[in-house]
Amino acid sequence: MSRAKPSAIMAVAEKAKALKAAGRDIVSFSIGVPNFLPGEHVYAAAREALTRDSGQYGSNRGPDALLDAFIKHLEDGGLKGYGRKNIATGIGAKHMLYSLAEALLDPGDTIAFPVPYWTTYVDIADIVGAQKRLLPCPASQNYKLTPDQLDAALPGVKVFLFNNPSNPTGMVYGKDEIAALADVLVKHPDVWIVCDDIYNRMVFDGVGYHNFVNARPELRERTIQVDSLSKTYGMPGWRVGFIAGPESVAQAMVTLNSNHITNVPEVVNAAAVAALSGPQTITERKCAEFQAKRDEVLAAVLSIPGVVCPRPQGAFYVFPDISVAFGKSHCGVKIGNDVELCNALLEVKGVACVPGSAFGDPNALRISYTCPTEQLADGLKRFVEFFAELT
Ligand SMILES: Cc1ncc(COP(=O)(O)O)c(C=O)c1O
Repeated sequence: MSRAKPSAIMAVAEKAKALKAAGRDIVSFSIGVPNFLPGEHVYAAAREALTRDSGQYGSNRGPDALLDAFIKHLEDGGLKGYGRKNIATGIGAKHMLYSLAEALLDPGDTIAFPVPYWTTYVDIADIVGAQKRLLPCPASQNYKLTPDQLDAALPGVKVFLFNNPSNPTGMVYGKDEIAALADVLVKHPDVWIVCDDIYNRMVFDGVGYHNFVNARPELRERTIQVDSLSKTYGMPGWRVGFIAGPESVAQAMVTLNSNHITNVPEVVNAAAVAALSGPQTITERKCAEFQAKRDEVLAAVLSIPGVVCPRPQGAFYVFPDISVAFGKSHCGVKIGNDVELCNALLEVKGVACVPGSAFGDPNALRISYTCPTEQLADGLKRFVEFFAELT
């Protein structure tokens, strides 16, 4: 346990919550929740499931209805050819990622992933005793991994973990970019590929969602797709995650479930089937809304002299490089780094952002823009003001 750390994102969210409770007017750009609720059909399915509670344990893999609904969801997203034996379910993508680390990595094995990364990747690797190979992708390379960089990094790697669209940067890899990385992966046959693509329904500008399996079908036998209801359906607290991959890996997840969670609860499974198979209108509407909000946030951050921000095309994050502020002061308080900047921004302006160092890039900060639309403009105004007041 000495290797495990609590989430840095939750720490900012807690501080913002405490200030709010103390009566401060706080705009939270911190926590990565979608901030919408699923459709009524999801609640109806949950209520209906309650009325026919079996009173039993459920399947370790997940009920057939849920496996089939997820397979259909994958197909709708362009990923065909998976059967029930390729699927496993669990308590959110986080649980699936943790179980994958348990299944694929022995202590001392190496896991490689791009930086900036989602914070939990580091903690999961540390908990299972894996070596981390971090692949720096700064703003100057659009926060994206290049094929040459991947090729050089992969020798000796057991698991390559990829996240597209990205949390925290919002970057989305286009079809050609995915194909170029897939060509490199083909050259390294001993590497497992874990694709954390849980934001795959939140993609803007017509870029589309692309993946390694479609780019190079031979990668299917060692690629594991991770997905979740959390962001797509506004259901983070319902805790449903999935993997699709080789039969042996899906079976490993089932075995871990049988010794760990046993099963996703019956009522939650029913709600999940309804979310995956019901109307997708809320998801589509939210995606359009997030795109409009992305435009608003990007315009605000790019209006600040010296701030650099590659254009995010998915998820609901903007990750500006704010290092231009380092060495300056705000109301006499020196801003030496991203953490000091986020602290001052929260204390003086009541705007909560997560320091980039939580994601491995101390030159940046993360803005999560799912707050109500009316709060967004106010929060951005204060954000821009803060930078204008630096001396
Ligand atoms: C990239 C990424 N992967 C996984 C997760 C975890 O999702 P879940 O709620 O399904 O556990 C998150 C949540 O923020 C995330 O951003």
